[in-house]
This record gives sequence, structure tokens and C-alpha cells, in this order.
Amino acid sequence: MSAHETSIGPISSQKSSKAGGAQSKCVTHLKGQCSLPGDKSISHRALMLGALAVGRTHITGLLEGEDVHATAAALSAMGVGIRRESPGQWVVDGVGVGALQTPDNILDMGNSGTSTRLLMGLVASQPIRCFFTGDGSLRKRPMNRVIAPLSQMGAVIESCGDGRLPLMITGSDSPMPIDYTLPVASAQVKSAILLAALNTPGTSIVREPKATRDHSERMLKAMGAQITVEENSTGDTGRIIRMTGEAELSPVDISVPGDISSAAFPLVAAAIRPGSQIRLKGVGINPLRAGILTALEQMGAPVTIENRREEGGEPVADLVMTGPERLKAVTLDPAIAPLMIDEFPVLFVAAACAQGSSRFTGLEELRVKESDRIAAMAAALSACGVAVEEVPDG
Ligand code: S3P
Repeated sequence: MSAHETSIGPISSQKSSKAGGAQSKCVTHLKGQCSLPGDKSISHRALMLGALAVGRTHITGLLEGEDVHATAAALSAMGVGIRRESPGQWVVDGVGVGALQTPDNILDMGNSGTSTRLLMGLVASQPIRCFFTGDGSLRKRPMNRVIAPLSQMGAVIESCGDGRLPLMITGSDSPMPIDYTLPVASAQVKSAILLAALNTPGTSIVREPKATRDHSERMLKAMGAQITVEENSTGDTGRIIRMTGEAELSPVDISVPGDISSAAFPLVAAAIRPGSQIRLKGVGINPLRAGILTALEQMGAPVTIENRREEGGEPVADLVMTGPERLKAVTLDPAIAPLMIDEFPVLFVAAACAQGSSRFTGLEELRVKESDRIAAMAAALSACGVAVEEVPDG
């Protein structure tokens, strides 16, 4: 299979040999190997930065889910040439920084918070106007976290209610750089500011008290943007990102690695079944995304990392999980939360199968995702007979 095929067929489940009854349906362990769908965060960014480059960007391994399609459709509506050549292979004919057009219809972002927040950043520093809406879940999600910094940069944003979609954004024709400290650990907010900064004269600064996924920074650097990342000297994981506009981006060929968020499911499935052994090929292991590997290791299910390499500025590897005899409960350090924010629901499943009580805190952001992931998982696991205690942040 190619590194970007989405089928996970080759992983087979071995069933109990006892015939009949409930036991014959019970999967005892998993064996096999597979590749994962392309990384969603990197797919969005590949389309957006390709749209702003001068010339043609070739993308392979693009995730072709609804969220990424929403981004592609919005960029097409803003005048960008986007074409799908074959599964996962896309071509983007960029219009250059500052040359997007006002779309002639409302942009429907469906369920995608990443499309909405990052595209708002893209629009904020260009003299165009866009209306954004989305599905019932997206219309409930907080947008003030991007409205505040983008308004400081000069965009005019009017939302229907209380900083939520639908909203209208009019980009500024004379945007101003800002020095902004993120009030929440959010790669979406950071990226929205960086995208706005591309067409803003001067140097914009984003200070993140806790480091979040840095796919935007890596791709911007690869495309020639003037961007620097300074680690905090105070010993915590924070960073200071400085970017100087007005940038000219050069197109690059982007190979999207397998999504570690998708890898988390087979990894946990193998971790909770002793005797399992699976290999996941070509998975992105960016250290600011790969917290799930640390968490599983602390639970006694270490992942073996093989064939490490770098593709398009992102670290990639094959991951091998051998299901341990026993999974241990864990009290996870809240500092890891931004490094695996989308993987908690499946980690809760691992915790439900581990011996002892696991504790997870510092997860208030999980309540404002596509769903309230804490409440949803507490309800689902309770329904399966697991003892769950829910607190506001975990
Ligand atoms: C994403 C950042 C995270 C994550 C989301 C994708 C991104 O959101 O949950 O699925 O691509 O930047 P936050 O920035 O809100 O934490």
C-alpha cells in the first residue's frame, strides 16, 4: 500500500476459537499493518499556504474528508485554482499573498473549526469581505478567541450572537502587526494570527505560554516566510513566534504524512489486547502532536518507532505497537494536554481497560470542541459499565 492509502484492511482481528455464544465474537488480538489517512491539520495548511504562494503547489496524501473539502471550496470561492488530480493528489495554483477575492456567496464551513478560524486569519488582512457559517455544532463554538486578535490587526468582524457563527469579516486594507499572548493554548488561534501577519507590514509576534502544534510555522518556513521561533528561556514549554510581512511565498511540493490522530485508534485497540502486534506506516510524529505516544508509554504500552525520516519539514516514522499483558492506570500531567488534545477520547478507552484508576485534568478545552468530549466520553463509558467521575476540567 502507498503511504497515503486510507484503507486499514490489512489489520486483522483474531477471534476466540470457541464456537457459538458471545465469546466467539470477542476480538482477542490484532495483527497486521496499514497506512493512515493524511494529517488533517497539515492538509488544511497545505491548501491555504498553497493558495497564497506564487505559482503551483503539488500536494500528495491530502486528507479528503469533509473538513478539508470545506477549506478547498472556500479557497476556490476566493479565486484560487484548486484541482484534484487523483486520490490524495491535488494541485493548487496560488494567487499570491494579498490577492484573494471576495466570494460571491456565504462560505459554509460545515463542521470544521480549523477551516473557519484559519480562513478568518487569511481574510483579516486582505481588503475582502466574507460571510462564514457552519453546522449546528460549529455555530455553537467560540470564535472570540480569533475575533479579538484579528480585530486588533484591523479586521472588522460582526458575529450574530456572542462571538459565534454566522459572522461577517471585512479584512483590513491597512492591517497592523500585533504582539499577542495567547489566552488559551490553541494552534488554531496562533495560526490565524500568523496567516493574517503574512499580509501585514512589520513584525507580528505571537507568544504561546504552552507550545502547540507547529505545522503552520514549519510550512511557512519551508515556503520562504520570514519567521522565527524562540523557545521560552523560563524552562516551560512556551514559545515566541515572530513573523514579518508582507511575505512572498514560494510553492513547494507537500507530502502529507499519516495522521497521528487517526493512528491513535488502532494503537489503542492493539494496546488493550495482549498479543496484538500492528505496524502503522508513515505516521507524522511531530513532537507537538505526539503526546499520545508518551501517554501510552506511561500506561505500559510503549510504541516502537522505526524508519524515522523527515518529509516536507515534518518528522515521520512507522509505529509498531505490541499489546502488553497488562495496561497500567495513569495520572497524566496536564502539561501534555496541548500535545494530544484530539486523542483524549480514545485514551479514555485505554484507561477504561487499564488496571486501576486513571486521572486526567487540565482538559477544559475538550468541552468546546465539535462536541463536549468529556461529557460524551463519560456518558459512553458509563453506559459500558465503567466507573467515571466527571469534573469541570477532566
Ligand atoms: C488544530 C488545532 C486543535 C485541534 C484541531 C486541529 C489545528 O484545535 O483540536 O482538531 O489544526 O490547528 P485548538 O487550536 O482549538 O486546540
